[in-house]
Amino acid sequence: MAARRYAAVVGWGKYVPQRVMTNDELATMVDTSDEWIRQRTGILERRIADLKEFTSTMAIRAARAALRVAALDPDRLDLIIVCTVTGDYPFPATASLVQDALGASHAGAFDLAAGCSGFIYGLSLASQMIAAGAYDNILVIGAETLSRIIDWSDRQTCVLFGDGAGAFVLQASDQPGGVISFTLGSDGSGADLLIMPGGGSRHPFNETTLANGMTKIRMNGREVFRFATRIMGRAAKEVIDRAGLDIDHVELFVPHQANLRIISTAAKFLGLPMDRVYVNLDRYGNTSAASVPIAVCEAVEEGRIKPGDHIVLVAFGAGLSWAAALIQWAVPPERRWPWWRRLLQWLRYRYARVKSFRQRVVRKLGSLWNRLLGRNGNMGNGAVRGQSGGGDTGWQT
Ligand code: COA
Repeated sequence: MAARRYAAVVGWGKYVPQRVMTNDELATMVDTSDEWIRQRTGILERRIADLKEFTSTMAIRAARAALRVAALDPDRLDLIIVCTVTGDYPFPATASLVQDALGASHAGAFDLAAGCSGFIYGLSLASQMIAAGAYDNILVIGAETLSRIIDWSDRQTCVLFGDGAGAFVLQASDQPGGVISFTLGSDGSGADLLIMPGGGSRHPFNETTLANGMTKIRMNGREVFRFATRIMGRAAKEVIDRAGLDIDHVELFVPHQANLRIISTAAKFLGLPMDRVYVNLDRYGNTSAASVPIAVCEAVEEGRIKPGDHIVLVAFGAGLSWAAALIQWAVPPERRWPWWRRLLQWLRYRYARVKSFRQRVVRKLGSLWNRLLGRNGNMGNGAVRGQSGGGDTGWQT
């Protein structure tokens, strides 16, 4: 019988933009105050991408950090999943841009859109692909540039969100642990409660959708709040039960960082004291699919997650959707890259850029050449036809 395979988290990384936007700054833009935002959400500040930063560029930085921790050559990645609702383009997938920049030449790549629950959806999917034996190394990224779809005149939503990216490297292991259980859920009857109505096939991007603000986030805050307080604790309990554990086994609860009041309600439901709950929304606000991996990275950096710990991740969001996963933390065996390996990897990233550029140039020259040949060919066809009255391919012979 084949040995059981586990999906261990062997790498983690994050990136947040430099630019900090405080509550006071927001109060100069809309009718709000630092006091209101602190009391009603727990948020003090958030990060905002600058004009040269996109979801892909932040995802790439988080991914590189995660690969460095995992000491994994991007060439060994089998799959890249970017969980986002703010990809660089409607298509192609942002994951393909990440794959190209990393030089991950053997990896498949796609985006996954499940709102703020996206990262845990991606994590669950990746863990099952590894457990099934299909793949050995999968990069899962949560990355968002929400600042580009925020209505900066709507005080109800603009105070909540921020930009950033977080990434995990999942790797096949024969050691029990990694992603132990998960649950995914959806209630599409609440689709209109948190939505960007324009820009899709129903209301394509045009002057009307633009003028009506339909390409910005719209939210019924109270209803989303009610849903979130109901679902978070329940989803967490479900993954704990499925893993055959109880709440005392959970060393750290890492919830989606949306609102401190939602998080405290979930913790109370679970009977968890707040010192076993990780919170960083005060500094970043709600970064949607990036919030859970960023929080996990910071918890590790702060020594709040140790080898063997059981951590519960829970998120909710647009859909309405929710997801939870229970992970037993595995630390990669001492695999830190020496300085020369890090330098080599840096050079390889540069080379990946050059290679990508070369591919584009070759493709452009190729199509130019074909066009030229096509024109010549047509002329040739005409000439040959004129001579022989023969078929279209006559010129080739
Ligand atoms: N500053 C000042 N006042 C504000 C405000 C702001 N930024 N936003 C809303 N208000 C006002 C409202 O207009 C309302 O005023 P009114 O009573 O005169 O009508 C009052 O504050 C209370 O509004 P309410 O919506 O009941 O506030 P709340 O306590 O529910 O907090 C949210 C609002 C949005 C913070 C809260 O509902 C929430 O966090 N919901 C979940 C949102 C979320 O997590 N979304 C992302 C999901 S992934």
